[in-house]
Amino acid sequence: MAKDSYTDFVNTGFGKKITKALGLPQPARLRRYRPQAPVIEGPVVLLGSSGVTDALADRLLGWELDVRRHVGPREKIAAVIAVFDSAHSPAELSQTVLALGGLLKQLRPSGRVITLFRSPDQTEDPAARAARKGVEGITRSLAHELRAGGTANGLVLQEDLDPSAPSVAAALRFLLSGRSAFVSGQFITVDSVNGILPEDWALPLAGQVAVVTGAARGIGAAIAGTLHRDGAQVIAVDIPDAGEQLAAVANDVSGTALQLDITADDAAERILTHAQQHYGRLDIVVHNAGITRDKLLANMDPSRWDSVIAVNVESQLRMNRTFLNSELFNRAEDTVGPRIVSLASTSGIAGNRGQTNYAASKSGVIGMVSASSAQLQARHGTINAVAPGFIETEMTAKIPFATREVARRLNSLNQGGLPEDVAETIAYLASPAAAGTSGLTLRVCGQNLIGA
Ligand code: NAI
Repeated sequence: MAKDSYTDFVNTGFGKKITKALGLPQPARLRRYRPQAPVIEGPVVLLGSSGVTDALADRLLGWELDVRRHVGPREKIAAVIAVFDSAHSPAELSQTVLALGGLLKQLRPSGRVITLFRSPDQTEDPAARAARKGVEGITRSLAHELRAGGTANGLVLQEDLDPSAPSVAAALRFLLSGRSAFVSGQFITVDSVNGILPEDWALPLAGQVAVVTGAARGIGAAIAGTLHRDGAQVIAVDIPDAGEQLAAVANDVSGTALQLDITADDAAERILTHAQQHYGRLDIVVHNAGITRDKLLANMDPSRWDSVIAVNVESQLRMNRTFLNSELFNRAEDTVGPRIVSLASTSGIAGNRGQTNYAASKSGVIGMVSASSAQLQARHGTINAVAPGFIETEMTAKIPFATREVARRLNSLNQGGLPEDVAETIAYLASPAAAGTSGLTLRVCGQNLIGA
């Protein structure tokens, strides 16, 4: 991983003064998740008045948070949750949004703004849809405006969905906590009341068995570590050439290692056999293994094109078919359905020069996930994708210095994310509580300024 010395420098007293005077980016030290720490420290202000606000207040009080409807003009606050549930036209947004604006200068470092509204797609009324889409615009723009590690994200509820549903709680907790440190300007949709709250929020994956592909290093190793920390047993998969590193990761997470190439025809069968023999179950599949073989399309050769498509998307399609037809991954008696989480990329959303092959594979993953959602829902399961932006890994450390320095600053948080940030989002989507969120691609990119 390449060291981000600039962020270290900015966060010294002298560095802050100089870089501010020169108008340079101000990357903050982000608040990240620690299992024993409170979800968030300081007052959480709820704006808007409806049954939804009351339900959220009850939930937050249950987590022993300092919930307020009003705060003094000089009081520091940790988060604002703005509920736009009852806006039926854009003109009705103003009261809540201006109250939100009035609080922003009081937001602590790594503060949180969460907007909550009903799904725009679920109303045919032009004024109501305009209001709901308006909240998207507010949220994205505000995410660009926040400083000091603050983030703004939206929570989008299906029409009539009960706001006390477990998946609303899971999303709210994820967005308030340090787990979402590098997620900003994004929207989490909750479509059903399914979901089971954990007995212990520090172990949301207790009793679950997860397989992580490409686990020998980078983001995959971080995913294995995070799922293990959250209570899951982990099967770490990678190619035989990475055997030694793979064994070390498996050892670190008290899991098991399985050497295989995910493009092999029998890859899924081998994973199922391994899971059956060692654990007697399989609950979570994380398709993380991926490769890049960058070339401008004018210079593209068949081996670069085919290998990227084969590893990054065809293998996942093939493996999912086998998993979904297996009894091990679909236990009828189980109320917690299976979870699949795939790695996409912001290149699959915005495109990237030299990456037609990679972007095709990652856009493909986004399509696969949305089209597979109904199949998973029929099994009480979910399938989602995570699209990382610039993440500090061996892959990005190889980018020449000047290009890397520009790429890592071009987001609202002015820094690269860590593999752990991607892993936290995956752990959240894989949890039994998040059963109402499926078919989604959630970006972990600090709100990339380039592309969508
Ligand atoms: P990495 O190159 O450090 O690790 C990928 C792992 O996958 C390696 O251990 C490799 O041996 C394994 N792998 C490759 N082909 C395999 C195969 N056929 N069978 C089994 N294992 C295989 O990559 P990194 O950076 O950790 O990325 C992980 C995922 O995140 C990839 O899907 C990547 O496309 C995606 N991603 C990464 C970003 C970043 O900034 N690093 C940004 C966006 C997406």
